[in-house]
Amino acid sequence: MSDAEAQKKAAGEAAAALVESGMVVGLGTGSTAAWFVRALAARKLDIVGVPTSQATGELAASLGIRIAELGETSQIDLTVDGADEIGPGLSLIKGGGAALLREKLVWEASKRCVVIADAAKQVPTLGKYPLPIEVVTFGHQTTALRICDALAECDVGVAPRLRVRDGQPVRTDEGNLIYDAACGRIEEPAALAAALKSVTGVVDHGLFLDLADRALIGGPGGVTTLE
Ligand code: 5RP
Repeated sequence: MSDAEAQKKAAGEAAAALVESGMVVGLGTGSTAAWFVRALAARKLDIVGVPTSQATGELAASLGIRIAELGETSQIDLTVDGADEIGPGLSLIKGGGAALLREKLVWEASKRCVVIADAAKQVPTLGKYPLPIEVVTFGHQTTALRICDALAECDVGVAPRLRVRDGQPVRTDEGNLIYDAACGRIEEPAALAAALKSVTGVVDHGLFLDLADRALIGGPGGVTTLE
């Protein structure tokens, strides 16, 4: 196992230790969240999991975790999820796995949110990782031009690129498309978040601001907690 994978596993296991029987737990998406789901399943607690993607739902169900859709349960007690970047004040970029919309819906419905990651995800300024932006299919090329304008308003001079895999546009679980904006540095994440949300056709973006309560970051010397 690589060092990064071992750090993700350690962070996932540390987060699983926070869960108690009786909880409704939001289950994140990605390789780090998958370590959490495995560690959680191994504890055999009486919990209900609310997955943030079809892939996570399938993993959790295969490991014997009881699953519910968002809205089918009472409020979510704790959500644990990965991130592509963790910046100052636990500001995050998410959506590398194209699950940002369901993830944000589950995070916002949660009493507490814990982000888990390997050490390489911690950055002094957000933006090196391309920012994912989820858009509806209809007129997406035009929406991309409006996104360019919104980025420029925030002094980010890049053109977002449609995410393609195996020659086909990537579809989210909601059937939408993802554009990635290689911003470089995001000096004012809140202003950029507001500008992107104001574009018609943008469903949501991967900036998660003021949502994480705690970060558990795996590193060479063990897991560090940030609050
Ligand atoms: C999916 C996400 C993931 O949490 C993020 O991409 C991190 O993934 P990984 O744990 O595999 O590095 O936001 O939409």
